[in-house]
Amino acid sequence: MIPDHIKEEVKAAADIVEVVSDYVKLRRTGSNFQGLCPFHNEKSPSFNVSPNLGIYKCFGCGESGDVISFVMKQDGVSFTEAIRSLGARFGVDVPEESQPENDERYREKEGIYHALAFAGRFFFKQLTENPEALEARKYLDKRGFTGQTVRKYGIGYAPAAYDTLLNAARKAGVNEHYLEQAGLIKFGRNGETAFDVFRSRIMFPIFNASGKVIAFGGRIMENVPVSDGRKAPKYINSPQTLVYNKSEVLYGIHVAKNEIRKHREVILVEGYTDVLSMHQAGISNAVATSGTALTAEQLKVMHRYGETLLMIYDSDLAGQNAMSRSVDLALREGLDVRLLQLPDGEDPDSFVRRFGRDSFVQYRNEQARDFVAFLIDKTRLAGKWDDPFHRTATIGSILRSIAEIPDEIAQQAWVQRLSSLTGMGDRALFEQLNLQRAEVARARDKANQRDRRRDTVSARNVQDQGTGQEPAARGRQQANNPTGSSGRQAYTGVPQDRFGPPVGDGKELQSHTDNPQTGPPPDWLDIPTESGREGTPFDAGPWPGESAPAVQPPVAPTGRKPGYERELLRLMLRHGHPMVEYIGSQCNEDHFQDEEYRMLFADMIARYETGKPISVSVYTALPSPWPALVGEVMMDRYTPSARKQEALEMQRKKDVHKIAKGELRSLKLHYLDKLKQEFQQQYAQAADIEEKKTCQQLLMEVSRERLRYEQELLDRLFPNPDQI
Ligand code: UTP
Ligand code: MN
Repeated sequence: MIPDHIKEEVKAAADIVEVVSDYVKLRRTGSNFQGLCPFHNEKSPSFNVSPNLGIYKCFGCGESGDVISFVMKQDGVSFTEAIRSLGARFGVDVPEESQPENDERYREKEGIYHALAFAGRFFFKQLTENPEALEARKYLDKRGFTGQTVRKYGIGYAPAAYDTLLNAARKAGVNEHYLEQAGLIKFGRNGETAFDVFRSRIMFPIFNASGKVIAFGGRIMENVPVSDGRKAPKYINSPQTLVYNKSEVLYGIHVAKNEIRKHREVILVEGYTDVLSMHQAGISNAVATSGTALTAEQLKVMHRYGETLLMIYDSDLAGQNAMSRSVDLALREGLDVRLLQLPDGEDPDSFVRRFGRDSFVQYRNEQARDFVAFLIDKTRLAGKWDDPFHRTATIGSILRSIAEIPDEIAQQAWVQRLSSLTGMGDRALFEQLNLQRAEVARARDKANQRDRRRDTVSARNVQDQGTGQEPAARGRQQANNPTGSSGRQAYTGVPQDRFGPPVGDGKELQSHTDNPQTGPPPDWLDIPTESGREGTPFDAGPWPGESAPAVQPPVAPTGRKPGYERELLRLMLRHGHPMVEYIGSQCNEDHFQDEEYRMLFADMIARYETGKPISVSVYTALPSPWPALVGEVMMDRYTPSARKQEALEMQRKKDVHKIAKGELRSLKLHYLDKLKQEFQQQYAQAADIEEKKTCQQLLMEVSRERLRYEQELLDRLFPNPDQI
């Protein structure tokens, strides 16, 4: 069984346009692509690929799906094989086979994701509803973040008290173990009192490429916060967890990835707020590392989506030093590196806020340099170019960087560039280059040996974690090696993240309550989002146990989990394999809109495929969150009257397939409505007439499908198993 998160990773990493292009000659039309359908014979193109939606659709024969189903159909392979080949192609590791430990790890991860999503929703709600967050709202307002940005990036607020998240989570039945493993709570020395890690902070959720919350960065609201005479760090970041590997995460990638694909260029900035401001200004291909120096893994992720890397650094010294190391890493990854230094005292956030998008684009066009020109300029500007010693050193280090480039032809081109910029003969330069190449090869050998050693060590560590090693010991282990064993540097500009057990009432970080004003939130929170319906990233509806908000926010389509999805799951759980087979052949997990329900559906399908039993008792025997989830599905929590329930029960006994068909119809109709909404939104944001036309076509197609599902006889839409 391939875990959900791997499926999602593959889907996020695989470029559907690139994959389809292997078989179909595609032509760009707006933000979509068109070509001749590979699934039927046609003369004029009606086959559409939407990289933004990650889907293909033929208006001629009706074939449609995502990148995975495309490979399955085109190559005639199974789901698992498709995932594997795409994984290999786009650099996603797909675990070899399902072993018990893998399942265990998978469940642990799912629990952690669940806790993180809960926390994301909680912090967001605090920011928007808790009077205590007034200062935070004002702060975000002052920094120019719009309500739309706050919503889109799920920005939140962690209250000052030491246990608000903990209490809310307990009430909602979120397991403390997962909160701890997610880095959201810690246990005090006595191992009993638990407390929130993030307190009195503005919370920036960090998302993976497919949009799941995997960590948080929490910012203090003042710039010089002092408590107990020591400076509190500006940001507290989640620790490394099972789902959060700092060295491969890029803040903003879930939004940036499509834009990077479009321009083939990624912009690397330093901070969370830089990403947010750039995106808000319409420059959405920006990403940032989260408080660590750039790593080779992060560069590999970027390379999945584009080839050009534009690095922006503040002009301060720390930025400058980090830069030359990063340039080498990026060259080694084979990226086309360009560099942009902002005017003194500006960072990307302040720059786009002050001058706007157009000025940024203009500044970039005029000022961005290739790395050779950039390094020469740097020495020039420092007034050292005319000093033979410094000049030689600069040229030497440039050649060293060139030696990192994997492609030899590119190396030669860069040496020629260096030669033309310096007036040095290229023969001397090539001789030097050869020496540097030998040096690079030696360094690489050494690094490989080190990596092998590290792999053995970390394999041991993973085992330790799996066998329930003391959390405290694990913390110590990390503290002993804060830079990571590959020589990576942690953020060094400020004190390391540090959070001890709470002192007193745990409010030691709270320093903004002198003015406990309450009042209406600033205007920006009331500003309707562009589409009017755009939700937060946490829109899955309330978690089990969490009560629905008293006032339904206009943005959330529904606070409840869809009844038809629940009914389908219930049928599958009740009747086991034959029903799973029937329903599974009529729909797929994409049709399920509730995240938890989708997870349960996918799990039952996987069980079916591997011949494992499926029943309520199977799930109640599993660890959290399965029992609660299945309990909720089986309970008629939302069914109003006992009478109606009885009637339903009767009906259920009568013809299970008939019931399934009715629910399947609702499922499909809702799914089509969702597609329609997405296309409408795309239509509203379309860049040109071509794209608008394509959207219209897609919309028409959706309406036609919808009509069919509405009007066609159920038995024809979803034939009985014996008729298939
Ligand atoms: P900056 O100090 O430039 O912060 O650190 P920023 O994101 O621009 O925030 P503002 O504009 O001051 O509000 C850059 C990045 O370094 C990491 C964070 O990821 C931050 O976004 N950092 C910084 C930490 O991890 N810890 C810190 O204490 C400070
Ligand atoms: Mn900043």
